[in-house]
Amino acid sequence: MNLECWTSVDQYFTNLFVDEDDILNNVLLNNEKAGLPPIDVSPSQGKYLQITAKLMKAKRILEIGTLGGYSTIWLARALPKDGYLLTLESEEEHAKVARNNIKDAGLESIIELSVGDATDTLKELCSSKESPFDLIFIDADKRSNPEYLELSLKLAKKGTLIICDNVVRNGGVIDVNTTNRDIMGIQKFNKIVSANKNLDATAIQTVDRKGYDGFVMILVES
Ligand code: SAH
Ligand code: DHB
Ligand code: MG
Repeated sequence: MNLECWTSVDQYFTNLFVDEDDILNNVLLNNEKAGLPPIDVSPSQGKYLQITAKLMKAKRILEIGTLGGYSTIWLARALPKDGYLLTLESEEEHAKVARNNIKDAGLESIIELSVGDATDTLKELCSSKESPFDLIFIDADKRSNPEYLELSLKLAKKGTLIICDNVVRNGGVIDVNTTNRDIMGIQKFNKIVSANKNLDATAIQTVDRKGYDGFVMILVES
């Protein structure tokens, strides 16, 4: 089993199940043309996020880490017309590409993109009496995951689902001697989740063309 096999199998399922339309395909092309790193969720994962949001009948979604807006668009398409998705991005260059992609997808009326360090934006949201979010997708700089979790919990309610991407990092997550700050952020995040009795969590490992990774799903119980 290797990357070539994982890529082929992922492609097989994508062909069968994932109706990537021109808009979504163009998002990836626009990102590539703009020189953005190819670290968007895969099409299968985008669809997974969308099904999850539909299943929950999510009306308010928060995303931390926009890049070119690929996962953003998958998620926003699960929302009703009066839904709302707020996505946070620190890089103006990424935000510029994402804004165009969101416009091309016709989703400007339900997606708000906020540019700035996500920790700062989240702190502002916490003090602004914002209504809680139904679904929160954490997918930015992994070293800040503990802060993102802490602040996300303040923007959550009973029944909120938090999904955190890239928690396996090719197995790096179990390296107790790591000095990689991103892996350390993921490890600390996992410990905090595990110790919080209000959170019901599980981790799913994934393989695809981006390699071996995974995500943690957390249900806020009270
Ligand atoms: N969710 C996207 C991928 C996000 S990649 C998708 O699947 O399509 C991670 C993004 O987080 C990058 O665009 C990066 O610029 C952004 N990021 C990194 N550090 C950040 C920070 N401190 N605040 C906000 N965004 C940050
Ligand atoms: C990286 C970030 C991601 O969000 C991802 O899905 C894959 C890789 C990265 O920073 O390497
Ligand atoms: Mg990711």
